[in-house]
Amino acid sequence: MNSLHQAISWGIEVLEQRGNKNTRSEVEQILMHLLGCQRIDLYLQEELSDRLDRQVFEQLISQRAKRIPLQYLLGESHFLSWQFKVGPGVFIPRPETEILIQQTVDSFEDRVGAYRHTPLHFLDLGTGSGNVAIALTKLLSYCRISAIEISPVALTAAKENARRHGVENRIEFIQEDWSQFLNRSSDRVDGIVANPPYIPSDEIPRLDLEVQMEPRQALDGGVDGLDWIRILLKEAKRILKENGYLIFEMGEGQATQVRQMAQAEGWRQYGTARDLRGIERVFWARK
Ligand SMILES: C[S@@+](CC[C@H](N)C(=O)[O-])C[C@H]1O[C@@H](n2cnc3c(N)ncnc32)[C@H](O)[C@@H]1O
Repeated sequence: MNSLHQAISWGIEVLEQRGNKNTRSEVEQILMHLLGCQRIDLYLQEELSDRLDRQVFEQLISQRAKRIPLQYLLGESHFLSWQFKVGPGVFIPRPETEILIQQTVDSFEDRVGAYRHTPLHFLDLGTGSGNVAIALTKLLSYCRISAIEISPVALTAAKENARRHGVENRIEFIQEDWSQFLNRSSDRVDGIVANPPYIPSDEIPRLDLEVQMEPRQALDGGVDGLDWIRILLKEAKRILKENGYLIFEMGEGQATQVRQMAQAEGWRQYGTARDLRGIERVFWARK
């Protein structure tokens, strides 16, 4: 395995033997991470091969062959146009969640003028790596956020990500169970955003092995996947200001039930936003 070309071929072969997908792209990402270079350099700058620590490279490939998520191995995940630190114990940001951000920005866009001097206050329930809270502070320059998270490991990553992106002054991180937080909270907020755990418990053993390595409490939404969504629809109105929004992500096939639940809880203005596959992915409701 002297040349980078050989290293790439070897990595692809090992990963393919273990049934991994996207093997070339993943081997390239591991090499780019180790060498601090662009993809094209792997093919044009053969001298980079001298800098490659083969032992570390082989170790990463063998861990990836055991289906440890690539993001955990590299310690980073991409969300919108930013990089976020992640690692075992922290939920890996997903592209679908970009729809949650888009919907939130769209919902509050018309308030830019009126609220320019009074920052909007949002709750981000289950902040994980902090990606949602941080993206919103970047995109809505007039908001501040209280980010609630039960996992201390995730919260540590979220705080570091906020520092890295220079928005730590605009996000208050709180380690707490969010239903307790909602119960005790008396402040009224402009928006509540969440990407709650929404996978039905008995589907979890059938998910890709990589997903099963993510924290269970980030995935498990109870018997029908809707435990947390039920709580949100029930509790949010008490915390929201007039015209405030509850906006959350949901799973494929959950929209009809979520609409019925919202109707039963007395929400009157609501809708959904679809992801790139056309699936109703985000639910919004206005108080
Ligand atoms: C699906 S992840 C979403 C993470 C991140 N907001 C995102 O969109 O990528 C759900 C998060 O909620 C957190 N969580 C689960 N149950 C919770 C609870 N009862 N109270 C607070 N946070 C909770 C999990 O630890 C996890 O970080």
